[in-house]
Order: sequence, then C-alpha cells, then structure tokens
Amino acid sequence: MKSNTSPVITSQPKYISKTANDAGYIDYSEEENGTWKILYERQTQIIQKRACKEFLHGLNVLNMSKNAIPQLPDINNRLRKLTGWQVERVPALIGFERFFELLANRKFPAATFIRRREELDYIREPDIFHELFGHCPLLTNQNYADFSQHYGQLGLAASNKDRAMLARLYWFTIEFGLVREANTLKIYGGGILSSTQESCYSLESDKPVRTPLDVIDVFRTHYRIDQLQKNYFIIEQLADLQQLTTINLKQLIERARFMGMKASNYDPNEGAAC
Ligand SMILES: [Fe+2]
Repeated sequence: MKSNTSPVITSQPKYISKTANDAGYIDYSEEENGTWKILYERQTQIIQKRACKEFLHGLNVLNMSKNAIPQLPDINNRLRKLTGWQVERVPALIGFERFFELLANRKFPAATFIRRREELDYIREPDIFHELFGHCPLLTNQNYADFSQHYGQLGLAASNKDRAMLARLYWFTIEFGLVREANTLKIYGGGILSSTQESCYSLESDKPVRTPLDVIDVFRTHYRIDQLQKNYFIIEQLADLQQLTTINLKQLIERARFMGMKASNYDPNEGAAC
C-alpha cells in the first residue's frame, strides 16, 4: 500500500462525489456504510497508541458514527461550536484556487464518495474517510484550525511558484506530520492517520528519515503522493503550528529557493500538488 493523499490532484477522477438532499444529507448505500465501518474499526485500533492526544480527544468530541458514514451537517454542528470550522462538500477533485479559498474561510473541502472495497487500503484520491477521520478530529484543535486557515490565506496570495513550496509545508505538517509527546513520537498528520500501513510505518520503520521541523528544510524537500514517505518532520507540540502563522514564510521561501532543493531526496516525480 502507498501513502495517502494530496489536497489537489490534476488527473481525471475515478470517483464522483455524492449529491446531498436539501438538508445536506446523503443517502449512502449499505455497502458504502459498511466500508466506513470496516475502515473506522480497523483504524481506531491502529491509532489508539499512535495518534497524538489532541487527535484522540477530537475523535471523542466529534463522536462520529462508527457504523455509517457521518453526515456533514452533524459534523458541522459540532465543529462550528468548537473552532468555527465547517466541512464543505466538493467534487472529487478541486483546483488550488478553490482549495485555498475554502481553507481561508475555515471551510475544509471534502469529496463525499468513499473508496471501493478493492481499494480499501489505498486510493489516490482523498475520500470521505480520509477527510473526516484523518482531518476533522484535529479541526477541533485551535492550533491546527488556525494554521489551516492561515495556510489558505497564504496560498490565495501566493504565486504558482510559491504555492509549490507551500504545498510541501502542508504536506509535511497537516498531511504527514509527527509530534513529540512525552518523549514519544505520535502522529497528527491526516494522511498518516487515515492509512493503516503508514500509521505503523511512520513511527516504527527504520527506513524513513525523521527530523525536527525546519521550515526551510521542508521547502527544500520533495515528496511523493504515491509512496510511503521517505521523510517525516517532527514538531514539539501542536502550538508550533500556531507559531508558523506568525513567521514570514514568504521570506523563508525565498531563502529555500536560493539554497535549492536538497540533492539527497531529489525526485522528478514529486506529487502532482507541485
Ligand atoms: Fe488530506
């Protein structure tokens, strides 16, 4: 299985987002709800000792349904009261502009389809399991929520070249970030937390390189959306994400560009987001 997922993919989608009724509810089939149940049960076991405490708290607070795909109006009711975030139903694939625009307005885009059974372990397109299970618990956390909005605002104002750099920051934090907790590494990245294999691999394998988060280093590091990650970046606490909203990232992008990409992890097939 490969790693999970990118906010923006440019090829044609294999899946189509579901339409909702006027109240925002979607009529999922028994099989689709069954797929959620399998994924939810499997993943909650795997991440119990691997996810950071804020994620586990968020999962508890959101109280998502275990046996059927949660409905967005229900999730939104809870999120609104906690951090003002909302999950917004979008087509399977959206462009950068729309993605940034939504985040800047505290709206988290989610395609509403769920993976087919034959793709239980990995799909290239981010599905509703990835978006709701992987990301929504931490949207209850102020640091994660504020950084996500800030990222959207930065992205909206950035040039295409700078957006490619910013995509790496999103990738190595919100999607594939690790955090230290009482001298133990835990996961906060939604791409990891929605992937059974990567939840174990990211913490337990001796293959990837794990280093403290250095923003310039992140900007200089290629990533792949279709493989387990070669690099993970570690923050000391989720408040470090809040800290990122106070520094001049544009200036750091310039410095990283001047230094060039790290030769050690050069990959011409970096994710489509870049
Ligand atoms: Fe994601």
